[in-house]
Amino acid sequence: MITAASTPRVLVTGGAGFIGSWLVEALLAAGFSVRVLDDLSTGRRENLPDSVELIVGDVLDAEALEGACAGMDGVFHLAGVVGMRLAHTHKNYSYRVAVESTERLLGFFDGPVVLASSSAVYGLTDDTAVAEDFPITDDSVRRYDGDEVGYALGKWHMEDRALRAVAKGHKVMVLRPFNVVGPRQTGTYGMVVPTFVKLALAGAPLVIHDDGLQTRCFGHVRTFVDAVLGLAANPASWVPGQNVVNIGNDQPVSILELARVVGEEVGTELHLEFVPYGEVFPGRRDVRDRRPDSRRLEQLLGRAPSWPDMSEVVRDILADLRASGEDRSL
Ligand SMILES: NC(=O)c1ccc[n+]([C@@H]2O[C@H](COP(=O)([O-])OP(=O)(O)OC[C@H]3O[C@@H](n4cnc5c(N)ncnc54)[C@H](O)[C@@H]3O)[C@@H](O)[C@H]2O)c1
Repeated sequence: MITAASTPRVLVTGGAGFIGSWLVEALLAAGFSVRVLDDLSTGRRENLPDSVELIVGDVLDAEALEGACAGMDGVFHLAGVVGMRLAHTHKNYSYRVAVESTERLLGFFDGPVVLASSSAVYGLTDDTAVAEDFPITDDSVRRYDGDEVGYALGKWHMEDRALRAVAKGHKVMVLRPFNVVGPRQTGTYGMVVPTFVKLALAGAPLVIHDDGLQTRCFGHVRTFVDAVLGLAANPASWVPGQNVVNIGNDQPVSILELARVVGEEVGTELHLEFVPYGEVFPGRRDVRDRRPDSRRLEQLLGRAPSWPDMSEVVRDILADLRASGEDRSL
């Protein structure tokens, strides 16, 4: 387990990114001493408080990874190639960052490790409320990546390496985040919420893939990192068999509804443009509905996280953009 009392010094890989920087803040507030390893490919120094030690380096670089882990009691491994646009154009690299870095990390680091996998491991299934024991195969995951090796297979094989380490007694917890959203997320790589906010602020049409009736569950990053700390502090979350956990809001919102909320909060007249998904990402299919079964998360936390609704998420994003004086969603 990871608590400020038992494991006071922690490394966050990918800590300068969107979720990572929120996690770093929450860890500092909980009394941890935090170090970050990030290559700043999508992360930013400005996302972190000045007091945080940042090592700029690649998790695929053995020396950088081992150096960053020196003296640490625990690791949150969040570095990854994220966002459809980025993961689609760097499929192999995205796979390697997930799998090779995890293999190496679990090979030399003995302390507890939290891994950021993804709901992408559920592939293209349209089963709503998908639970952790949903049957997953390499083939089902590869379909998500357009029948190629890519982001989703990387996360699935990352989980495989984790479970092998767990079988040898290593303390590893695997998170399967669903759509995490909030301030500091960038729209550059295809994330829908910051993209819609950016387009609405510019008065441009919001581009909807397919009919917009597909649904996602958007979870505020603040609630998300709070749940991560709660899970990490509970010894039960590390027990083999329940150490793989869906984490995300379980209230679905259609993309059309998201567009409506963004238009309302930005205060702009809504213009929508509909584009077939296959035109944007040739050879790939979109997931129609993606929703977590949150029973394990709630049982381990001893409560249901209270996820803010979409309007509050969008208001927080807008407030952050105004406070920062720049458009960080671009
Ligand atoms: N945001 C979501 O909805 C979501 C959903 C499922 C899973 N996840 C996972 O959560 C983690 C964090 O995602 P995020 O949304 O904060 O994205 P992000 O792009 O903001 O964060 C990823 C961070 O990793 C860093 N990074 C990338 N490659 C690296 C490398 N080779 N070496 C060192 N640093 C590297 C980037 O610079 C960035 O700071 C990722 O592992 C992602 O796959 C996120």
